Amino acid sequence: MADYKYSTLAVHAGQHPDPLTGAVNVPIYLSSTFELTGIGTDRGWDYSRAGNPTRDRLETAVAALEGGTSGHMFTSGMAAIAALVAMLRAGDHVVCSLDVYAGTVRLFDQIVSGYGIEIEYVDTSNLCAVEKAMRPNTKLVHIETPSNPLMVLTDVAGVARIAHAHGAEVSVDNTFMSPVLQSPLALGADIVMHSTTKYLNGHSDGLGGAIIGSTPEHKERFGLIQKAAGGVMSPFECFLVLRGIRTLPLRVRQHEENGLAVAEFLTTHPKVQKLAYPGLKNHPQYELALKQQRGFGSMMSFELNSREEAGRFLAALKIFLNAESLGGVESLASHSATTTHGSVSQEWRDRMGINEGRIRLSIGIEDKEDLIADLDQALAAV
Ligand SMILES: Cc1ncc(COP(=O)(O)O)c(C=O)c1O
Repeated sequence: MADYKYSTLAVHAGQHPDPLTGAVNVPIYLSSTFELTGIGTDRGWDYSRAGNPTRDRLETAVAALEGGTSGHMFTSGMAAIAALVAMLRAGDHVVCSLDVYAGTVRLFDQIVSGYGIEIEYVDTSNLCAVEKAMRPNTKLVHIETPSNPLMVLTDVAGVARIAHAHGAEVSVDNTFMSPVLQSPLALGADIVMHSTTKYLNGHSDGLGGAIIGSTPEHKERFGLIQKAAGGVMSPFECFLVLRGIRTLPLRVRQHEENGLAVAEFLTTHPKVQKLAYPGLKNHPQYELALKQQRGFGSMMSFELNSREEAGRFLAALKIFLNAESLGGVESLASHSATTTHGSVSQEWRDRMGINEGRIRLSIGIEDKEDLIADLDQALAAV
């Protein structure tokens, strides 16, 4: 399978016909436990927390798409990030991108730091800052690229070089790009994670998270966390993500075509300020995007003058829904300061550069002309 291209992998990796019936779709194995064949022997499964046939298929699929050695499914993207840091010990140090999903900051600052693990937030788009932050006890550098919601890129290969020279691993939250547009492991990272709630599922009808490792130790480590801590994805959710993955490359292509068209429209609009979209040539990291991504995706954000203007804009939208989340077939618009970044302090948002007028867009797969017309009329209402 490893030699196949993305669309082939998306349809076939982990998705071979059911050996028992020939069903071309992966069956949903709704069984918590499995009959053993003797004392200490089984048919490959004994209890669904440790492993389930439907989950196994999805784990095979995500590992193939990311070019990793093992995939591990969790109940949500946050559960996957919690699993990522679950093997750290008191006294360990983590370097994390400053400009990350605020739920990651909430987990790190309100829970993980209570275990004696120190988290240091750094502008990882600046490799000198990453180098400066490394310490003898740094075990993990966790990056999100492009970042949420300011679409700042981090040079994955550059960070991997620095981290590895200091004996640390690099994990990449690849949610915004999906495996179709960016392969962090091929760029030198060690671990990839996804909120499968977004592009991998793609239909906004389930929560999930994935970790993809690149070594046998990762397979053992994350398998143990699944079994011991238990935050595993249900077989039904696994089926939904498997189904979503089959159309992932197709959807991502349409998302991106629409994303580019919307960005080109917004960049000329007089009411739109500080549009952040790496597919525009004036994005400060356009060259890096060309180097490490296979496309620019469909996430972007921009500023209006105030919270009131943002409110008027969101209320006037007719196709875009005023909703958090991203990566589904439908276009969404959200007010960053009160949704994705509502859980961090005003001071934190100021440090990141998220003001009260910042709007994030997740461009769906509707007709781009309709999306642009909707944005145009909503901006007219501002
Ligand atoms: C980039 C990113 N990572 C992780 C998460 C968390 O995922 P979940 O909501 O599935 O827990 C999100 C959620 O919005 C996200 O945007």
